[in-house]
Amino acid sequence: MKRPRDSMSLKKIMVTGANLSLAMLVMPAQAEGQPQWRSGADLYNNVCGYCHKPEVGVGTVLQGRELPVEYLKIMVRNGFNAMPAFPASYVDDAALGELSKYLASLPPLPPRPTPPPAKAQPGGSP
Ligand code: HEC
Repeated sequence: MKRPRDSMSLKKIMVTGANLSLAMLVMPAQAEGQPQWRSGADLYNNVCGYCHKPEVGVGTVLQGRELPVEYLKIMVRNGFNAMPAFPASYVDDAALGELSKYLASLPPLPPRPTPPPAKAQPGGSP
């Protein structure tokens, strides 16, 4: 036989728990050890790209320039003329590393004529 008071408090705990997990879902990933940005593309599309995408043309084109992460870090941490600075709490070093890789994976501009298709597998090994 159940006592009504117990089932009430159990219900309360369950509701509180549901609210907590909901809050954790909508909270930005700021917990320690969690990446702030899902990927370099995520950071680029949500921050840098607002000014630096070629079609925007506010900032310089960053893609396809093989920019070293150290260079990105200096510009991002200090800002540069019209560009605001971003602290590590917003864009951490790991995110900049991912961004550097992502930018290098994008084609340089202006687009160059496509080179003839390379062989899928380099021959040579017998
Ligand atoms: C509000 C617009 C804006 C945002 C957001 C922004 N930048 Fe910039 N950035 C600029 C502008 C404008 C310049 C050019 C400043 C100048 O040359 O006077 C610049 C310059 C730079 C430069 C140096 C110039 C070059 O082409 O080598 C780098 C590197 C750079 N930004 C990287 C980034 C990265 C990485 C992010 C994202 C974390 C970012 N920027 C976000 C506006 C922005």
